[in-house]
Amino acid sequence: MNDQSRTVLISGGSKGLGAALVAYFLDQGHKVATFSRSITEEVEAWRAKYPDHFFYDSLSLTDKGAVKGFVNEVQGLFGDTEVLVNNAGIARSGLLPLFHDEDVDTVIDLNLKGTFHISRLVSRPMLSLGWGRIINISSIVGLSGYRGLSVYGASKAGLDGFTRALARELGPRNITVNSVAPGFLSTEMNEELDARQSRQIVNRTPMGRLGNTRDVAELVGYLASPAADFITGQVIAVDGGITC
Ligand SMILES: NC(=O)c1ccc[n+]([C@@H]2O[C@H](COP(=O)([O-])OP(=O)(O)OC[C@H]3O[C@@H](n4cnc5c(N)ncnc54)[C@H](OP(=O)(O)O)[C@@H]3O)[C@@H](O)[C@H]2O)c1
Repeated sequence: MNDQSRTVLISGGSKGLGAALVAYFLDQGHKVATFSRSITEEVEAWRAKYPDHFFYDSLSLTDKGAVKGFVNEVQGLFGDTEVLVNNAGIARSGLLPLFHDEDVDTVIDLNLKGTFHISRLVSRPMLSLGWGRIINISSIVGLSGYRGLSVYGASKAGLDGFTRALARELGPRNITVNSVAPGFLSTEMNEELDARQSRQIVNRTPMGRLGNTRDVAELVGYLASPAADFITGQVIAVDGGITC
């Protein structure tokens, strides 16, 4: 994605995969806007290093008014968002019979409703522009299922359904929509995995290791590039082959 500088909006870019995506797009010379509930040292460093190319604000994706304000602010600073990466997501684990209602709401409100809302806001100017990229970060848990992650898995499978329908709606206006489904990455989200679980995952993975955020950023960067003009409505796993 190096033909020209684009405006890239990434939800949840303060740490983990989102932070790797922010670093990747900044490194490629694009203007990057991101938000999360709390700021990190990495965000402070980008603010200092890229004063004209980076914008951050603290807010929750579940706060519709704040998200609308953020999208408008990005538009004022960098112009219309051309690439939207729906990365912010949360997992709550637990067997379904013991699962709490509040946890169902937390997962669905963020992973699905929040993503629908920001995609709606950003796709409107993309339609006028006649170009755009929407990349949804789902998960292999939505493809193959994982014990204790039924609600999270349902939210990610839902996101993949959203990807396919939206690809059909927006394709005629030159906007592609794809899901990237990472396998298990070594980020904060997986802190709950113990050594035995990690070992089991690695043993079942043809490539013999957990994924890293760079593996995923490379595919997201490709999907955002002109080289991927004819790829839409797909769910692409980056998982070292664990789902093959
Ligand atoms: N890690 C994995 O193995 C893995 C595998 C497959 C898919 N994924 C997906 O990849 C994405 C990123 O995961 P990750 O591992 O990087 O998670 P992470 O390390 O927990 O980071 C999540 C990011 O989202 C932000 N966030 C969380 N809740 C938010 C909210 N309500 N509003 C705005 N921002 C919010 C977090 O910042 P704050 O907490 O400060 O808000 C943080 O910046 C998620 O969609 C996840 O489902 C991860």
